[in-house]
Amino acid sequence: MTEQVFKDGFLWGGATAANQFEGGYDEGGRGLNLADVLPGGKARLKLLASSGFDFEMDTDKYSYPNHEGIDFYNRYKEDIALFAEMGFKVFRMSIAWSRIFPNGDELEPNEEGLAFYDRVFDELAKYDIEPLVTIAHYETPLHLIKEYGGWKNRKLVEFFDRYAETLFTRYKDKVKYWLTFNEINGATHMPLFGLGFSPESPETRLQESFQGLHHQFVASARAVKKAHEIIPGSQVGCMLIYAPVYSFDSNPDNVMHARQEADLFNFFCGDVHVRGAYPYFADRYFEENEISIEMEDGDLETIQEGTVDFISFSYYMSRTDKKEKTPEELGQGNLIGGVKNPFLEASDWGWEIDPVGLRIALNELYGRYQVPLMVVENGLGAHDKIEEDGSIQDDYRIDYLREHIREMGEAVKDGVDLIGYTSWGCIDLVSASTGEYSKRYGFIYVDKHDDGSGTMERRKKKSFDWYKQVIESNGTKL
Ligand code: BG6
Repeated sequence: MTEQVFKDGFLWGGATAANQFEGGYDEGGRGLNLADVLPGGKARLKLLASSGFDFEMDTDKYSYPNHEGIDFYNRYKEDIALFAEMGFKVFRMSIAWSRIFPNGDELEPNEEGLAFYDRVFDELAKYDIEPLVTIAHYETPLHLIKEYGGWKNRKLVEFFDRYAETLFTRYKDKVKYWLTFNEINGATHMPLFGLGFSPESPETRLQESFQGLHHQFVASARAVKKAHEIIPGSQVGCMLIYAPVYSFDSNPDNVMHARQEADLFNFFCGDVHVRGAYPYFADRYFEENEISIEMEDGDLETIQEGTVDFISFSYYMSRTDKKEKTPEELGQGNLIGGVKNPFLEASDWGWEIDPVGLRIALNELYGRYQVPLMVVENGLGAHDKIEEDGSIQDDYRIDYLREHIREMGEAVKDGVDLIGYTSWGCIDLVSASTGEYSKRYGFIYVDKHDDGSGTMERRKKKSFDWYKQVIESNGTKL
């Protein structure tokens, strides 16, 4: 792409989450959170999918890589300097709730935790990098999970209010861009991550998840209003995991099914966050699935009053859907279900690679909502190898990102109002789904491995200079 399509001031950068890269899990008065009890390795996925996970650590059996992350807690200056060298305009990070309120239900925050993020924001400001802060990224304080049952419990709305207000008040002069709940719509698939509970049984999963989601909708809307009151000019977005849903073929039954899946997965939460109301199809869906939501008086008004300023989303893959699957097709789809798409290749972790799907996603979202969009996660998890000369030739990552950015450009030409792009895991970090270090996304390699070995030394990959040039040229040199 040689023509300029991205607007001036386009927010190029990278994305992370506290629990996956900060480490320092027992430093600075921090309490434990969900990610601290998730084991490293493929065992994690099974636990995430099962009912009855007990949220206990078993150090004889498992490792817990999120405890150490990549030690951003102690190395943030070095890391931010590298982000600045790439020319980042924005840096997406989350705040670890349990650093601010170690148990989650205290009345007073932990000053040491607040001071840490002051230092991080000040460091970013030195380089004119705008922070984009996710308030809740899969890191509900463990105490809130064990004592209250996570987001199923209405009390979490109150605790989140206090947490969010504390952040807005403290960082009002330092942070303009905020996101409420990471990938909120992923909750019905895997309630454990976003909602902080393991369903009582597969049969109760939907009922429990939608109740938890309702609490997050109210909490998010209240946070949006509060941010606007406390920080004039602040921009608060929602955060969705977005996967366009393709029908496997033109059989109208399959097309209808794909459409319903898309409505439910991609648009349900978006409608609540952006339009301020439950979607038109919710009543029938709730009735047919015997879901009944307990609401308090005023909840629907709150939701209506707290609509977001923009939509942010993660994009890794599309989904190909079929109403009836043969036994062979079951389980062949990607992480979020469906069947195999014969036109797409997949990553080493089976995530189908579909750059055009990103253009589709951007058009679908913009077509429905007409609010500014930001892609806040996208990238390729891959095995990287250090060559004899010490270099890391990650051309596969460059190719992946180039194709996705090109399609983003096409969407902008289509008329989509896109304001930024932060690729996921701009520095290698712990994978959320598998707890592996070996699933690497970064432009910066971190010498840390699944067996716990490694020096944590940082090293630029080939993609580092490539991304620098993308940013420098505002996307014209890919
Ligand atoms: C998103 C999450 O789902 O995908 C991130 O918001 C996560 O936390 C990212 O890391 C990539 O997934 P994974 O499992 O490869 O780390």
